[in-house]
Amino acid sequence: MRKILVVNSKGGCGKTTVATNLAVALASRGDDVALADADRQKSSLSWVKRRPKGLAPIEALNWTKEDSIGDKDKKLDAIVIDGPGGLRSELARNLIAEATDIVVPVLASAFDWDATLKFLDGISDIKRVRKGKADIYVVANRINRRSTQVADLEHTFSDKGYPLLCRISDRVLYARHAAAGSGVFDYSDARSHEIRGQWHPLLQAVD
Ligand SMILES: Nc1ncnc2c1ncn2[C@@H]1O[C@H](COP(=O)(O)OP(=O)(O)O)[C@@H](O)[C@H]1O
Ligand SMILES: [Mg+2]
Repeated sequence: MRKILVVNSKGGCGKTTVATNLAVALASRGDDVALADADRQKSSLSWVKRRPKGLAPIEALNWTKEDSIGDKDKKLDAIVIDGPGGLRSELARNLIAEATDIVVPVLASAFDWDATLKFLDGISDIKRVRKGKADIYVVANRINRRSTQVADLEHTFSDKGYPLLCRISDRVLYARHAAAGSGVFDYSDARSHEIRGQWHPLLQAVD
């Protein structure tokens, strides 16, 4: 079973957006998926509550407390974890130490880069990551077609040894899905075909 942790000490970078859409992508292809919420704001748990009945089922797990963490259900194919804000907490370190895949969203705003690079260096000290048992994937989020910052982001992160795996566009449709308890993989409409394609490198990586 994969344990895919979406985490970054920087708030607002898209952890919940990436976690919910990733859970949908896996569930909609028939995987048994749980979405574990380890963030105090419990945004992922609320999102599951809003999820319409007819869509691919996603089990919700409340992992906001240290003692609630656990893969009680080994029959699952994957647990996607919406990670806590800070890295210093015991909870964050334990989750990182247990994850098979670590997904780190970053915005194309220079204010976010230093914090995210510090965070990446911080997690590379954790045993499982150091031993290469957990892979780290950096996902550039809220990319604007007209912005030139993504090229700078690309260079800055590659130079430090963290090449970007995917680039997710800034689209109002993500906010709409967030409100509706759904994700871009719940519907196969032609209009968002290109948007779904942006997730493929990440889906391949966690396979
Ligand atoms: N790719 C995107 N395009 C448009 N809006 C986005 C995108 N990713 C995130 N958002 C919006 O940005 C805000 C913060 O995202 P969220 O996933 O809640 O971040 P976090 O969980 O890291 O705090 C939310 O309002 C969300 O809808
Ligand atoms: Mg969140």
